[in-house]
Amino acid sequence: MPEQQGKGIGKALINKGLAQLKERGAEGVVLLGEPEYYGRFGFKAQPRLTLTGVPAEYFLALPIKDSIPAGEVSYHPAFFE
Ligand SMILES: CC(C)(COP(=O)(O)OP(=O)(O)OC[C@H]1O[C@@H](n2cnc3c(N)ncnc32)[C@H](O)[C@@H]1OP(=O)(O)O)[C@@H](O)C(=O)NCCC(=O)NCCS
Repeated sequence: MPEQQGKGIGKALINKGLAQLKERGAEGVVLLGEPEYYGRFGFKAQPRLTLTGVPAEYFLALPIKDSIPAGEVSYHPAFFE
């Protein structure tokens, strides 16, 4: 809701989600979103990591460990259920 925006809720949710992914040993995170916003958290477009059908500048990745993978990303089947 617009009246709830800009209070730090988005930042808190993202930081909590990233912390949980680190605890689980995730290698990194990808998302489709506004570069200007998610860049604050270190997300950026990686030319060698792609998602077909979306503007490349909005497909962002954040490595958690050292390596940045390369390749075509696809949605988990659960997204289509
Ligand atoms: C984008 C969104 C998730 C951020 O959540 P939030 O709780 O408002 O975020 P926070 O309070 O942690 O951060 C607010 C800051 O983000 C900035 N921001 C919000 N949306 C932004 C955007 N689309 N692009 C760039 N910056 C943005 C605000 O200007 C504010 O900046 P400031 O800290 O310099 O004042 C939320 O505003 C929202 O749902 N917006 C409408 C839907 C939308 O745009 N979703 C994007 C999904 S990819």
